[in-house]
Amino acid sequence: MSRSLKAAGLFFLFIFLHSCQKENTYNVSSPDGKNVVEFNLDDSGAPYYTLHREGKMVLDRSLLGFEFKNQSALRNGLQLVSASTTTFNETWDMPWGEREQVSNEYGELSVTLEDPDQNNRQWIIRFRAFDDGIGFRHEFPGQEGVDSLTIMDELTEFNLTSDPNCWWIPGDWDIYEHLYNTSKFSEIDAISKRDHPNLAQTNIPENAVNTPVTMRDDNGLHMSFHEAALTDYAGMTLKIDAENLKMTSNLVGSDLRGYKVKRALPFNTPWRTIQLSDDAPGLIESTMILNLNEPNKLGDVSWFKPMKYVGIWWEMHMGVSSWDLASGRHGATTENARRHIDFAAANGIRGVLVEGWNTGWERWIGFPDREGVFDFVTPYPDYDLDEVTAYAKSKGVEIIMHHETSAAPRTYDQQMDTAYQLMQKHDIHSVKTGYVGKIIPEGEYHHGQWMVNHYRRALETAAQYDIAINAHEPIKATGIRRTYPNAISREGLRGQEFNAWSVERGNPPEHLPIVAFTRMLAGPIDFTPGVFNMKMTDRPGENVSQINTTIAHQLALYVVIYSPIQMACDLLKNYEGNPAFQFIRDVGVDWSESKVLNGEVGDFVTIARKEKGSEKWFVGSITDENAREIEISLDFLETDKVYTGTIYKDADDSHWDTNPEAYVIETMELNDQSTMKVNLAPGGGFALSIMPKDE
Ligand code: NOJ
Ligand code: CA
Repeated sequence: MSRSLKAAGLFFLFIFLHSCQKENTYNVSSPDGKNVVEFNLDDSGAPYYTLHREGKMVLDRSLLGFEFKNQSALRNGLQLVSASTTTFNETWDMPWGEREQVSNEYGELSVTLEDPDQNNRQWIIRFRAFDDGIGFRHEFPGQEGVDSLTIMDELTEFNLTSDPNCWWIPGDWDIYEHLYNTSKFSEIDAISKRDHPNLAQTNIPENAVNTPVTMRDDNGLHMSFHEAALTDYAGMTLKIDAENLKMTSNLVGSDLRGYKVKRALPFNTPWRTIQLSDDAPGLIESTMILNLNEPNKLGDVSWFKPMKYVGIWWEMHMGVSSWDLASGRHGATTENARRHIDFAAANGIRGVLVEGWNTGWERWIGFPDREGVFDFVTPYPDYDLDEVTAYAKSKGVEIIMHHETSAAPRTYDQQMDTAYQLMQKHDIHSVKTGYVGKIIPEGEYHHGQWMVNHYRRALETAAQYDIAINAHEPIKATGIRRTYPNAISREGLRGQEFNAWSVERGNPPEHLPIVAFTRMLAGPIDFTPGVFNMKMTDRPGENVSQINTTIAHQLALYVVIYSPIQMACDLLKNYEGNPAFQFIRDVGVDWSESKVLNGEVGDFVTIARKEKGSEKWFVGSITDENAREIEISLDFLETDKVYTGTIYKDADDSHWDTNPEAYVIETMELNDQSTMKVNLAPGGGFALSIMPKDE
């Protein structure tokens, strides 16, 4: 193959060629040597890569390319200008998170390509190989004659070498709130999920999946495909070619713009990522997505403190009260807020969320003309914001603000500064945002570039006012919390609320044992655990809802599902006098260490986390619809230290459907030699707090 080599690249390439096994193939391996990416151009000048792990091929020849508007595609006829490798190693601190320190070590290969038919148009592909997976991105440097690129689609392939088991949700351009499906890759059928009765917005144009999508092959290799650092670009779904066992990137588009991404040069795409592990726990312990993001841009964010919270929320989803005033059952009253503040203060819970406090809810779901309807500074007359926030402050409690935009982002853009100023005035440091419904203007989608930029603008603007955001109906998490640590949590999955709506919509017992290995790999989840009234007898009218887990499983979620804000979502009266609530009082919400003790995707998972700034450990374990015995060793505890363990576990006859509220509490002495065997009921779990005895 003929190559025109630029002088600058020649030196690197020369050295490099000598270190390669095969001539003209460029490769990079992970620090442990297990994961190897190879890059090359084929005979037509089309760039491709392959991925091997311990000598076995994981991804076969996978092509890379782009289609543009008003410019010829980048897919073949390319020439290699230069290639270079380097290694990198750092450790960085998280202001809050699953752990205090993150180690970031990788090998890097970057190749510069040129298109001789198109004015020597340049294109850099940068690969990073980590021990826990690989990532690569495309970079378009500033170049003469091209100011911007209008991308019609990115043609990144992932060419599998087997037909693995997959845990997937459809490639919906508007919402991630689908139930996970389990099937062979060749049996993925996202189109059959189109007709979805439960969602206020959905658009599944292709047989594609959303990411993270997790797979396990017959040899037990676990892979999860996702993206990192999604900035000023469209979200990526993966189009399924079932016959050829291949996925191709399919970016979320816009009916209004007629293209998928428009960017001025220079720019980089998000990282395309493949997390790799020989076992399922390794996926959860992976830090690669975070490592592929830029360091903290906000500096000190100590104004945000991880917290547990209660709120005026579950009562609306059950129909006990409502968001709007006109119904006559308004939930967000000054009195109700005071009651929640009192409860929070009495139980060591820092946050109180109040939904339905502001005007506009009379024209929410089902109203097409939602532009300009919600007002983010005007409370309903029965809610005294000054009084509520002053009362909260006097009790050491923080109000969590709520902004439901009803998917009218332009209205929110207009009011953002004023809304955040109002929060700042009241010393409120976090807001839950929401984007229920089809995006206005019609033709834009939640996961397209236009909305990606809106969500980012909210984060950047909020940061100026020391405000953190928990977004619902968000763009997916891609590790942006490293760069913007005010991106504290988000929904972006089928949350607890679905259980409140009806039995048919409820989440099955396997839901969270799948979520822990799929959605959770992307980042923190505001799942809102902690229901104790499992048959939801508080619901008015005919009772048609239930939670499809046991109480012990609900408790375990405070450890298993990571978020720096964790709701105790049930009605306060269901906590009062219930001994299981002691675990929610005790459990940490910010961690110095996290260890995944065991797990299989969709079956069960057990996680231990050490509270930041203390010697306390908490363990959570959940199972799907199958009962099982979980055995753990507590060898992570400090040697020669004695602890008191309190376990909240399923009773012998607990069952997610027939007996979900039965549990047993036991206390015991523990040390680093201790092992435990715990029986989990169908849909069950256990929660264990481990406190040093001398404290
Ligand atoms: C959907 C959110 O997921 C839910 O938590 C919230 O209560 C409603 N939107 C109202 O904003
Ligand atoms: Ca939602």
